[in-house]
Amino acid sequence: MGLKGRHIVGVGDLTRAEMELIFRCADRLGAQPRAHLHLARGFQLATLFFEPSTRTRLSFEAAMGRLGGQVLTVADGAQSSAAKGETLADTIRVVGGYADAIVLRHPDEGAARLAADLSGVPVINAGDGAREHPTQTLCDLYTLRRERGRIAGLTVVLHGDLKYGRTVHSLACGLAECGARIVFAPADPALAPPRPLLDRLRGRWGVAPGWWTPDGGEPFPDADALYLTRVQRERFADGAAPRALAPIDRAALDRWGVGEQTLLLHPLPRAGELSPALDREPRSAYFRQAANGVPVRMALLALLLGVAEEEWANGWGGPRQSPTAATGPAVAAVGAGFRADGLVCPHPACVAHRERTAVEPRFVLPSVGGEDRGPRLHCRYCERPVRIAGALDRATGSYRPAGDPRLLTLLATAGPDDVLLIAPDPSDARDERAAEAAYAPLSASA
Ligand code: NCD
Repeated sequence: MGLKGRHIVGVGDLTRAEMELIFRCADRLGAQPRAHLHLARGFQLATLFFEPSTRTRLSFEAAMGRLGGQVLTVADGAQSSAAKGETLADTIRVVGGYADAIVLRHPDEGAARLAADLSGVPVINAGDGAREHPTQTLCDLYTLRRERGRIAGLTVVLHGDLKYGRTVHSLACGLAECGARIVFAPADPALAPPRPLLDRLRGRWGVAPGWWTPDGGEPFPDADALYLTRVQRERFADGAAPRALAPIDRAALDRWGVGEQTLLLHPLPRAGELSPALDREPRSAYFRQAANGVPVRMALLALLLGVAEEEWANGWGGPRQSPTAATGPAVAAVGAGFRADGLVCPHPACVAHRERTAVEPRFVLPSVGGEDRGPRLHCRYCERPVRIAGALDRATGSYRPAGDPRLLTLLATAGPDDVLLIAPDPSDARDERAAEAAYAPLSASA
């Protein structure tokens, strides 16, 4: 399957071979950024931003401009009809009629999944709440590849807010897909990565990341890059965010034992945790990383719009695979999911919870993890666990309660329309607790 017409909701939508295709295309486009104005002439890109952005929106818009296309933008969701109460679902249905591709940033987890379900044109996730930010990962991996010549076999230490940092969640999956080693180094125990991310790394890639505790007495890992992030204060409940992080400067790096050869990466913006005094050091790659956003997004847009193919046929060389010959995702795209009677995703930051009047709840049995503890269904949108009382097998009319071993068999084998999930007793608040527990701080031994 080629990339033309595809949605990019998460890093898991791309294989390593497809990422390499994007990177080679970015090499080509970036080498002569003004030579491709014919590629997307006549195409429209809609950039819909319901959260603040500088780099992501402007680099997408610069990329579309450099391909000769045009941009329709909502830079501030509060200025759109969302302020009049329009749902995201309706916004996407409307904008899909105006544009050839949609870039969406939204505070709700699963917003891009919902948009992709409803849109006839490619949807690119530019950040859905704390969940994912896959095109930042493409910029991060492309920077590693440019600066180090490869990604496979590198060791990357991820530091800062690993709990709510969506760039970290996507990057960890991208590193796993590309065969790099991950070391988690949360800046505070309250900023440790969420359990679903660890389950996913283990289940899909068989990866168990390393851990390093800053100032915990252990030597800093032999790392090719240290990826720093700010605390995502806007995602914590009032007063729950940890104290401000001490700025990382040369003294801190020396104290930790970070070598001069270790690249410093940061998705930016920084909020005090990265000292500007480091900016002039050769190892500080974060502004080069931001600049790489344009060629990477040019490549992604050209491939999703299907306009790179002619250039390819005319002798770009590079990858032996033509864009349309790239292999599809290693794991089949999640199906539409099971319907449920009376069950709404309990997670308050999920798009299916917030837009419950517009979004039909759907639940999937993840291909990874959980089976040993019985079936754990996930919300199709935010991918957090939900509990059910049981499920009705529509073909036979039999009911399988939670705890019945035949329930897992039913869910694993039945088609989405063959089963109706039954919600637990509404007086039971364990759902909310289960969703929150999934994001509770983890220790290194978890
Ligand atoms: C990041 C984001 O929006 O998640 N910014 C970006 O796109 N480069 C990181 C952040 O806001 O901390």
